[in-house]
This record gives sequence, C-alpha cells and structure tokens, in this order.
Amino acid sequence: MCGIFGYIGDKDPLKTCLAGLEQLEYRGYDSTGIAGIAEGAISTYKEAGKLSLLKQKINLSRLDLAIGHTRWATHGKVTYENAHPHLDSSQSIALVHNGIIENYDSLREELKSRGIPFLSETDSEVIVQLISSHYQGNLVDAVYKTLPLLKGAFAIALIHKDHPDQIVAAARESPLAIAYNDDCTESLISSDQNAFLGTSLNVLFLMGDEIALIQKGAIHIFDQALQPVEKKTERFKNDYKAPSKEGFAHFMRKEISEQPQTIQKAFDGRFTPDFEPIGISLEELKSMRHIWILGCGTSAHAGHIGAMYFEDLVKIPSSCDIASEARYRDPILGPDTLVIALSQSGETADTLAALREAKKQGCRILGICNVQNSTLTRETDGSIFLKAGPEVSVCSTKAFTSQLAVLNLLALHLSHIRGRLSPALAVHYVDKLKQIPSHIQQVLDQAADIERLAQKYAAYEDFFFMGRRYMFPTAQEAALKLKEISYVNANGCPAGELKHGPLALINPSFPVVAFCANIRTQEKILSNLMEVKARGGPILAFAPQGLNAVADVADDVFWLPPTIDELSPFASAIAGQLLAYFIAKERGCDIDQPRNLAKSVTVE
Ligand code: AGP
Repeated sequence: MCGIFGYIGDKDPLKTCLAGLEQLEYRGYDSTGIAGIAEGAISTYKEAGKLSLLKQKINLSRLDLAIGHTRWATHGKVTYENAHPHLDSSQSIALVHNGIIENYDSLREELKSRGIPFLSETDSEVIVQLISSHYQGNLVDAVYKTLPLLKGAFAIALIHKDHPDQIVAAARESPLAIAYNDDCTESLISSDQNAFLGTSLNVLFLMGDEIALIQKGAIHIFDQALQPVEKKTERFKNDYKAPSKEGFAHFMRKEISEQPQTIQKAFDGRFTPDFEPIGISLEELKSMRHIWILGCGTSAHAGHIGAMYFEDLVKIPSSCDIASEARYRDPILGPDTLVIALSQSGETADTLAALREAKKQGCRILGICNVQNSTLTRETDGSIFLKAGPEVSVCSTKAFTSQLAVLNLLALHLSHIRGRLSPALAVHYVDKLKQIPSHIQQVLDQAADIERLAQKYAAYEDFFFMGRRYMFPTAQEAALKLKEISYVNANGCPAGELKHGPLALINPSFPVVAFCANIRTQEKILSNLMEVKARGGPILAFAPQGLNAVADVADDVFWLPPTIDELSPFASAIAGQLLAYFIAKERGCDIDQPRNLAKSVTVE
C-alpha cells in the first residue's frame, strides 16, 4: 500500500524525507516522489519506479520542509503523472495520499465542469484540487471544508507554497502517525510508524477526520468540527537495527530460517494455565458461546486452523471468515461472541473494517498481531503479540507459524479455564507443542532436499495444493506462498473436493502437491492420491514419517517429523514455504517484493 512521509524541523528536510521513504520501501510500491517548498515555490520530483531512480533526479537546494510518497497503484497505471505528490492546477499545493476515495469520479467530473484540468488518473488528485477550490488563505480551513465531501478512506499530508512553516495532515480509517520531539522543534509524519525507527519520539495517531497543523514548535489537532483536541501520545522508542538479510539471499529465506526461534518467542512465558492478561476478563472468556476469527490472506489461513483448535480443545462453535467477505455478511453476533482479529501488520483495511462492524454489535474483540501500536491494537479490547520481530518480506512466513503458536496457547488457556482440559491431555499436548521448534529445525536442515524437488517442479505453470482437515488450510497457505512470489497458478483445494470438479484439470502438466500429515484422514488422502495418479497427474507429497503407503503412489515424497494432527501444520508449512521460495528462485522472481503486492494492505 502507499506510504506517506513528511518532515519539518532543523534537519535537512529532503534527506530526512528520502530516508523516511527508504523505511517504507519494504511495503512494496511501484512509484515514488517528494515535494518541498523553496523560495516560496513548490518543488516536486517524481519517478515511475524505485526510490534509487528518484534520488538520481533530485537536484535541490535546501527545502523549508518536505513530504514524500511511495505509491502502490490502485487508480491508474504506473506512470509519472499518477505518481504522488499531486499538485493543484495553480501549482500552490502539493499533496500525498494513502487510501481510496470511492466517489472520486463524480467529484472529478464536477471539478472538470468548473474548468479545472486534471493531469492524472488518480483519486488523489481530486483531493488536492478540491482543497485548492476551498482555499482562501487558511490551509486547515480548506481541508476542513473538503473532508466531508470525500467518501472512503484516506490519510493525507499537504503543503502550500504560501505557508513554508507548516504541513497539514488528516486521516480517516487509513493510518497516519505524527512523531515529534519533546520541544516539538521537529516532527515526522508517516502512514507507517516503521518510518520512525531509530528515533525516540512522542507519537500520536490521527483518525476520524481529525486534522493536524504541524509547525516547528507546535502541533495543533482539530476534530471534524474544527474544534481543538488533545491527543493521547505514546513514547515511540526503537533502537533501530536496519533490517538485515544476515547473509541470506532474501529476507524471505532469512525469515523462514528464524521460525524455530520466533515460535519459541511466541511460547515464552505463556505455557501457564493463566496464559497472560489479554484485556478480556476470565468471566467474559468463560461466558463466550462462539468464537469468530477474522483475517485476510495468510492470516485467514491461520484463522481457519485456529477455528479447528477452538472446536477441538475448547468445544465451542468456532469459525473463520475472510475479513473482506465477513463485513458484508450479517453474522449473528453479540456480547457472547469472542471475535479474534488476526493480522501481522495490524493495518489491513479489510480486517479493521470487519472488526469495526463486530464492535458495533457489542462483541469483545481480541487482536493477535505482530506490530505494537498498530491500528489493530488500538481498536481491539485486548491484544496478544506474536513477538516474531519485523517481517520484511511481502510474503508472510514466520508470522503464520507464530499465529498458529499463539492460537494453540490461547485454545489451551480457554480450554483450561472452561474446565475442558484434563491434566493428562494438557501435559500430552504441551509436550508435543514444545517439540515444534525442533521439528521445524529438522525441516530447515533438509532444505537442500526441498530445493532439489523445487528444481524438478519449477517449470510447471499450474498446481493444485490439496489436503484434508488441518491440512486443507495448510495447503491453501502453501499455494498462496507459491502464487504470490512465483506468479504460478497455484491453488488450494480440499482433497475431498477434487472429484467434484477440479479433477477435470489434472493431466501430466498439472501436478498436485499433497499435504498428508493429518492422520485422522490418512486413508482418504491416499485415495485422493490414487485419483490423481490415475489421471497422470504428477504428485509431490509432504507426508509424516511412517505413512509409507504414500511412497507407493506419489512421484516424490518429502518426509516430515510426525506429530499430532493439531500440530501438523507447523512442519508442513515450513516445507511449503521452502518449496515456494526455491521455485521462485529457480524462476528468477523478485522474491521479497513481488509484483502487484504490498506488505501492508491498507486499502479495501
Ligand atoms: C501473505 O503472504 C500475503 N502477504 C498476504 O496475504 C497477507 O497475509 C495479508 O495481506 C494479510 O496481512 P496481515 O496479516 O498483515 O493482515
């Protein structure tokens, strides 16, 4: 998603702004730009490409202040004209935007009817032209008059050539943070607080059409009625370590290798019956009659597995919905529904929108997240942190297995407090859970074997990934890994569904990757393998040691450390991650920043 950065203070605004944009690159983007004020005029540089190309273009003396942007295209192609910042037709105002203006088309037509020309295809340019049309000397007032006209989500920062002492910002549903030092002599604005890494500043977050007037020495915040408001601030202290690949070729490969340690961190201090305070009382947790999990992409796959944990261990109805669908359903919710919002970034717009709908129905909301102070953690009743450390690669890996670890521990905790967990089962389950880091290490130690398999299957353009019960969401997740970094048509399929249609696609050029580690359904998965083999489909199976019958059917087998069904997704996920990584590497893809994707999807 788009990244916004702005700076006003005693340091060099241009250098500081470019450094801030560098911190946002990990999110994925396709174009970038900066704007500043020098000698009473707006200076703008844009690039329909990476920041490194933009830097080569910039030939600027010192700016009074600067705003910058990394664009992930939503409206309009990747072109110079569509890159931000956008200027109004009088070249007086420069604006950067993250979000989507849903009524931009009608607004643009109305502005065009007044003779206002447009240079880009973007919704963002409509905002700056509207503000300009309301400007009569006071930039805050012009923004105030504009916001009610906008439908949708936005975070904006803007400057005016006649006000070289101020940056104005505003936000609705899209994240926007303002970080400032104690005497307010310098302020940073960003849509992602990762841009503040390495600083020790006070941070406040704009929301609900609030407007900020940011100047050296003072920050004024106004609510949507233009009344001054005092915002709660938090201390953002981060001993910044530039994310490093630590010798690996890609962040993804490094983050895959970290998982024995990151899972251990997710476990630390939580193997107690009382778990940890999660912001929802024991009484409420005991009274819950339904658990509803929300998430997108990888987080949704973890959520589907988590729903099975809760049904198996806590014995209450549990389900998971993809957040972008959940918010348009009319689910039967209420105070006895525990809603769990899963999100690595804590900024996914669809997940935030769905949890806001659930909140309106009186549900208690628990967030499971990897980023402290993210929007999710500010909007839920309680949060559990993954403690997986920054996940830089767009492709989520360690966050997934840490989500599973936390969901397991939460299910054990709920099962314990509701008297569902016998001491014997608790000991047995915890013992198996504690073996998981070493199981994952075993798979990592055999990465070369998976790389050889990847080289054999790298040329195929189509795959089904199939599994049953715990292995179906696991298969979906492995398919997503391959799809998003190698651009191969890989899709998850319930193994039992194959004969209801998908089997028609199977042929010698359409392999199946089978996840066979769910013991309860092992006979059935073997039958499914036979169905595929009978149609000539190549089969790569990930199977638990001991399930030897798989070797009689599959063309290739990678043997996994055996465990209980509930915990089988861990090692299988690692194998799927490595398979995707090595196939993408073999195909020469951009693994950490795949095309068209972003790390934090802050638009709906
Ligand atoms: C996973 O590899 C993808 N990058 C994507 O599906 C991601 O899981 C999804 O956008 C949800 O992100 P979140 O966990 O930060 O909410």
